[in-house]
Amino acid sequence: MAQQVQGVIARAKGEPVRIETITVPDPGPGEAVVKVQACGVCHTDLHYREGGINDDFPFLLGHEAAGVVESVGAGVTEVAPGDFVILNWRAVCGQCRACLRGRPQYCFDTHNAKQKMTLADGTELSPALGIGAFAEKTLVAAGQCTKVDPQASPAAAGLLGCGVMAGIGAAINTGGVGRGDSVAVIGCGGVGDAAIAGARLAGAAKIIAVDIDDKKLRTAQGLGATHTVNSRATDPVAAIRELTGGNGADVVIEAVGRPETYEQAFYARDLAGTVVLVGVPTPEMKIELPLLDVFGRGGALKSSWYGDCLPSRDFPMLIDLYRQGRLDLDAFVTETIALEDVEKAFERMHHGDVLRSVVMF
Ligand code: APR
Ligand code: ZN
Ligand code: ZN
Repeated sequence: MAQQVQGVIARAKGEPVRIETITVPDPGPGEAVVKVQACGVCHTDLHYREGGINDDFPFLLGHEAAGVVESVGAGVTEVAPGDFVILNWRAVCGQCRACLRGRPQYCFDTHNAKQKMTLADGTELSPALGIGAFAEKTLVAAGQCTKVDPQASPAAAGLLGCGVMAGIGAAINTGGVGRGDSVAVIGCGGVGDAAIAGARLAGAAKIIAVDIDDKKLRTAQGLGATHTVNSRATDPVAAIRELTGGNGADVVIEAVGRPETYEQAFYARDLAGTVVLVGVPTPEMKIELPLLDVFGRGGALKSSWYGDCLPSRDFPMLIDLYRQGRLDLDAFVTETIALEDVEKAFERMHHGDVLRSVVMF
């Protein structure tokens, strides 16, 4: 039986979101209905409601979620009703060129639920990133559900579904941070702080946090930064070089998404070091670098997409580390809010005092 629940809907470009009744169909073949327990508020949700992603309004927002599988459709073997799961927005196909080459994190044929959730009048909804979890229940592809230890707090677990995974993965998966490395992270919002936590997990010896806001730098210290640089007051490239014996960092992670911070990252790395771009640039942004510097400095210039994660490998592992007290996911949950307060959480995002607001059900 299709069910009616409440969900957060963006009806039109730039309009405040509102709560509406939506219809969630029974799961079809390969699908699952998940009872959402927690869902974080991410910048991408705001981009959807501002029309910055596409024009497929109305959107059902929310995509950083954890919950319990309520029912599954025909042929589903990955999960069963009652499983505690984290939702992911990249259920890989296993058959495309990237998957067959053993790089499933670059699969560009990921799948979502085929059936549509609808508004009361039957209008089809576009779920944000194929998830739509600012709703009491949501319909997803079973491959979007990753089973993890049910003892984990849903608010913390859900964050691995997007921004926190992006940051941790930028350090561990893309940057390949190893024991003893020096790492610099430029931009210490939720993503940069997660990269710091990831660098600590990987055994980095020096973790240099760079931001323009002292408050952000204090939080970064709590997550593992060993040194901080306010780049409003100090040239970050010179400061990072000085802190690394004149060399530059082994891995520099750019978590702002701007040309000037990318350029800083490029020059703040050691010869043969790695730069990881995890901040998302806008289409008009460009950088100009002397080709001789690209040649002369060597190393690797990489970008990180969803932390180059494999949910089935990374989510259970990170939840285990969290349960053992070795990864402080709770530190990313600044506040828990009700479904009605998503619009207010969007406003708070601009003020920069929140790592994550998390809707609890
Ligand atoms: N130099 C250093 N830090 C900066 C600069 C700058 N020029 N400009 C902004 N910052 C800092 C901000 O003070 C803030 O702490 O970058 C941080 C950005 O954090 P958030 O706005 O909270 O963004 P976050 O969610 O962490 O995402 C960062 O990664 O995944 C992408 O789309 C995401 O591009 C975004 C980036
Ligand atoms: Zn694939
Ligand atoms: Zn997100």
